[in-house]
Amino acid sequence: MPIKACIFDLDGVIVDTAKYHFLAWKRLADMLKINFTENDNERLKGVSRMASLNIILEIGNVTLDESLKEKYATLKNTWYVDYISRMTPAEILPGSLEFITELKNAGIKVALGSASKNTPLIIKQVGMDNLFDAVADGNVVRNAKPDPEVFIIAAKMLGVLPENCVVFEDAAAGVEAALNAGMLCIGIGSKQILKKANIIVSGLDKMNLKRLMKIDKA
Ligand code: G6P
Ligand code: MG
Repeated sequence: MPIKACIFDLDGVIVDTAKYHFLAWKRLADMLKINFTENDNERLKGVSRMASLNIILEIGNVTLDESLKEKYATLKNTWYVDYISRMTPAEILPGSLEFITELKNAGIKVALGSASKNTPLIIKQVGMDNLFDAVADGNVVRNAKPDPEVFIIAAKMLGVLPENCVVFEDAAAGVEAALNAGMLCIGIGSKQILKKANIIVSGLDKMNLKRLMKIDKA
């Protein structure tokens, strides 16, 4: 199974936007008098916008009709966009740019596979909008992780078979999505949360081409 492509999740792998999601969701939760903690925020990683709102409402035992849910999800996004519009290249997580550049120089294709509809804005803000060979994001995907759709679409865009792809993910739902797509998965973060990943590293600063090739042979 030679590795021909690497597909990266965005939030929590390339940039740390979880803190901005948290601030915006917290503002909405406070407004709805729901006690929402940073611990609860873990459950929102990799999960779509509406599914995130549903989790928060479930925590607060609050029921809303669909039109009100749409309204609140849009309101949260307005606040979130306000934060990410101020992002700069300094917010790229350590090692990301170096590793992606090394892959590209070695002829390995690189793609993004993210649930976020804000992917275009984020990569523009951090100066990565011309870096990836393909971008599969929340604007083209219908089924949220752990459904493999986002990674299958990314592989198709690249013209690479799933068995020749490696996914980098920081969320449990994302690791499952990668494995469901028949791809290798490298977990970025904690062993407790990402136990199903093929290997786990603390960040992309711990990755390089040599290490990737060893996984290929394992
Ligand atoms: C990523 C994040 C999630 C977020 C989702 C949708 O997967 O990890 O926390 O809910 O994207 O993001 P969006 O920017 O479309 O609201
Ligand atoms: Mg993520």
